[in-house]
Amino acid sequence: MGRLDDRVAVITGAGRGIGREIALAMAKEGARIVVNDLGGNTDGSGTGKVADDVVNEIRALGGEAVSNTQSVADVAGGASLLQTALDAFGQMDVLVNNAGILRDRTIFKMEESDWDAVLAVHLRGHYCCSRPFANYIREQNRTGCRIINFSSVSGLYGNFGQANYGAAKAGIAGFSRVLALELAKYGCTVNTISPGALTRMTIPLRENRGQSVSDQDIEAGGPQHIAPIVTWLAGLESAGITSEIFHSARGGVSIMQQPRVIKSFHKSGGVWTLEELDRYVPELVKARRENLENAERTGKPVEI
Ligand SMILES: NC(=O)c1ccc[n+]([C@@H]2O[C@H](COP(=O)([O-])OP(=O)(O)OC[C@H]3O[C@@H](n4cnc5c(N)ncnc54)[C@H](O)[C@@H]3O)[C@@H](O)[C@H]2O)c1
Repeated sequence: MGRLDDRVAVITGAGRGIGREIALAMAKEGARIVVNDLGGNTDGSGTGKVADDVVNEIRALGGEAVSNTQSVADVAGGASLLQTALDAFGQMDVLVNNAGILRDRTIFKMEESDWDAVLAVHLRGHYCCSRPFANYIREQNRTGCRIINFSSVSGLYGNFGQANYGAAKAGIAGFSRVLALELAKYGCTVNTISPGALTRMTIPLRENRGQSVSDQDIEAGGPQHIAPIVTWLAGLESAGITSEIFHSARGGVSIMQQPRVIKSFHKSGGVWTLEELDRYVPELVKARRENLENAERTGKPVEI
């Protein structure tokens, strides 16, 4: 008995890296898998057959899988994911929005095409793939479904040289919070992953800093470390856990803060003067810094 027996999962960008590991892990738990990947380069150019390779790997392990090579960045591609799942397996229960590309530039050099391509695959891609699935859930009144989205510390914390990617990844966190509200009625949870893994997306960034990547590094920090939390969230055991952001990297699994007001002042009878703000804004910033220090203390991993 696998935890995902009788479930059908669609995983975008599953031909490589984190998505491939998720597809293999979910198949091992009994899920039938749609492996989506258009097989392009890290910057989004080109196409390839990596989705078929992962389908063959899953079948060799005794699992069931079919490929879909459409782009997540267009509406027809997104709709084709649901259709592939229905044609092959008659149902869909889980969507993992994992596909991604990178086009790092500082704002000074970021061309419109770099901005548009990254926003299209990540943020628009989440919309294109989620909307058909959400409508299917509503039309079928299908309960217990799961959407698992992919954000990044690049958007949640900020990262130099990634304004396009960071904007898309922060947008995905907001998108997920809204979908969690809109799909709650159907028992569909919507959670966000902030991963950290050595893949073809991140290895070159490390190598550009003059750091080599060994097999031991991959063992300690490869994409296989992200698959378990995603697989767990895909199961029925995660019912009721929604709108959360889980960070996962190098054997760690963590939960992130959500934006909330942490300190406020209120002035009755009149608008604030700039002199009053001279006094109170630094107190707000101090409270925010203390809150961050506290989170950094409580966020230190507990060894199990
Ligand atoms: N690796 C990390 O440390 C890290 C950190 C933060 C966030 N992420 C996110 O995790 C996800 C997976 O990243 P990865 O490191 O495994 O990268 P990866 O490059 O190894 O895999 C991404 C896959 O997405 C596919 N893809 C790209 N555009 C597509 C499109 N339009 N339609 C369908 N497939 C498409 C690619 O062909 C590729 O196989 C991405 O969303 C990435 O932004 C990764």
